[in-house]
Amino acid sequence: QQKIIITIDGWSSCGKSTLAKQLARELGYLYIDSGAMYRAITLYFLRNHVDWTHHDAVDQALQNIKLNFHSNHKSGQSEMYLNEENVEYVIRDLVVAEKVSEVAAIREVREFAVKQQQEMGRNKGIVMDGRDIGTVVFPNAELKIFMTADNDIRVKRRFQELYEKNPNVTMEEVRANLEMRDYIDSHREVSPLRKADDALELDNTNITMKEQLEIAKKWVQERK
Ligand code: C5P
Repeated sequence: QQKIIITIDGWSSCGKSTLAKQLARELGYLYIDSGAMYRAITLYFLRNHVDWTHHDAVDQALQNIKLNFHSNHKSGQSEMYLNEENVEYVIRDLVVAEKVSEVAAIREVREFAVKQQQEMGRNKGIVMDGRDIGTVVFPNAELKIFMTADNDIRVKRRFQELYEKNPNVTMEEVRANLEMRDYIDSHREVSPLRKADDALELDNTNITMKEQLEIAKKWVQERK
């Protein structure tokens, strides 16, 4: 059967990666978490004290960054590697989340990431989630999904995820971070978050994960 490209964009913590992973598993497709790439670049900048307000510093730092996804043999899930180090866990930290939208707004950073993302989709059979996948990375994708959910639900979901790792995290911190990222992501000059004209909207505030998967699978069938 013909393989397609599926893009999933939307606000922070809408459940994009959950749906993307499930769809990829069902279809036997590659799943790529583009946000993990921006998080890994941010981690590198923070660790190496890169002054990302200067173009030269950014250009030079990017030359030393190698990003890869390797699948975890136990879970079968793809994990983010930064210069051959597994950073899948550390990039989820709030310290990274506090800065990632600032870093992701830099033109050179986006060019660096988008080029690699497009390369990964060369043979189709891919589900990629992010903010600009349907608008910029794969404008010709066969199926584009734009996910939304109520603010409070999104804060609660992300809080639960972070709380399991760090019981010191507060709901207010999480809410402030989501609001800040959504604001920066949708107002930046380069590839701001927006729904592609031909994207199908999926609001999962009041539906289960199973229901959302069924809806998406139906859309896939219609497009194939
Ligand atoms: O998807 P996730 O929440 O992990 O993404 C982290 C951040 O990376 C986003 O808030 C956004 O600033 C940036 N991002 C982006 N473009 C993408 C994916 C993520 O700018 N395609």
